[in-house]
Amino acid sequence: MIELRHAGKTYQQGSREVRALRDVSFVIKKGEFISIMGPSGSGKSTLLNLMGGLDQPTSGEVFIDGRPLHGITDNELTLIRRRRVGYIFQFFNLLPLLTAEENVGLPLLLDGLPFSEVKPRAADLLDKVGLRQRAEHRPEQLSGGEMQRVAIARALITGPAVILADEPTGNLDSHTSEEIFLLLKSFNDQGQTIVMVTHDPKAAAYGTRIITLKDGAPDQDIVIGGDNP
Ligand SMILES: Nc1ncnc2c1ncn2[C@@H]1O[C@H](COP(=O)(O)OP(=O)(O)OP(=O)(O)O)[C@@H](O)[C@H]1O
Ligand SMILES: [Mg+2]
Repeated sequence: MIELRHAGKTYQQGSREVRALRDVSFVIKKGEFISIMGPSGSGKSTLLNLMGGLDQPTSGEVFIDGRPLHGITDNELTLIRRRRVGYIFQFFNLLPLLTAEENVGLPLLLDGLPFSEVKPRAADLLDKVGLRQRAEHRPEQLSGGEMQRVAIARALITGPAVILADEPTGNLDSHTSEEIFLLLKSFNDQGQTIVMVTHDPKAAAYGTRIITLKDGAPDQDIVIGGDNP
């Protein structure tokens, strides 16, 4: 599903080199729910950005659905990012002038589908995240938890190979956070592959596998239970 082969990332800061990731290799299988943990600066966001093609490694290779993210055109990369990867961010990243329904449908609208086709699919997903009554609301009219539900629906609408979530509850209270984790878990139970960065050990326990990073490399890689593929 997603594979990293000796992926590394070095940032150039003036004359100084920052090795954010060093020689990381692993495979994410279909249906896994991976929690990525580790101290601040250990490379979690960098790793997630490489997995989703938001950033390129300075060494090694990344594959999604068996297809390399290197040696392809910008246009091909844009299409893979839009169609095969769903992103969820700490600060939701919704467009303020669009309704919940339009935000959810945006990846398909950008892909050229007519609104008449997108609207029922967006409505169905809003229903699945418990926001059927909020379709016409703008982000400013929604709570933080509701905004993150809209973002989750938006991430799911293309039927992506993987959902990548970077501290998806970093901006939410503990009760709302738990609701978001349960929602992600319910989509994982239906087969959705998810990779989630979190600081919270309780959140990480929703995963089927926990990878901890230390100084830009995996430190521990633990599969939880025995029933995941
Ligand atoms: N654009 C950049 N330019 C230079 N250095 C960067 C850049 N992005 C990240 N870094 C550095 O790379 C290292 C890893 O950063 P990264 O954001 O991946 O860590 P993180 O584990 O997500 O941290 P946090 O928990 O604080 O979000 C850090 O030392 C960081 O300062
Ligand atoms: Mg980070």
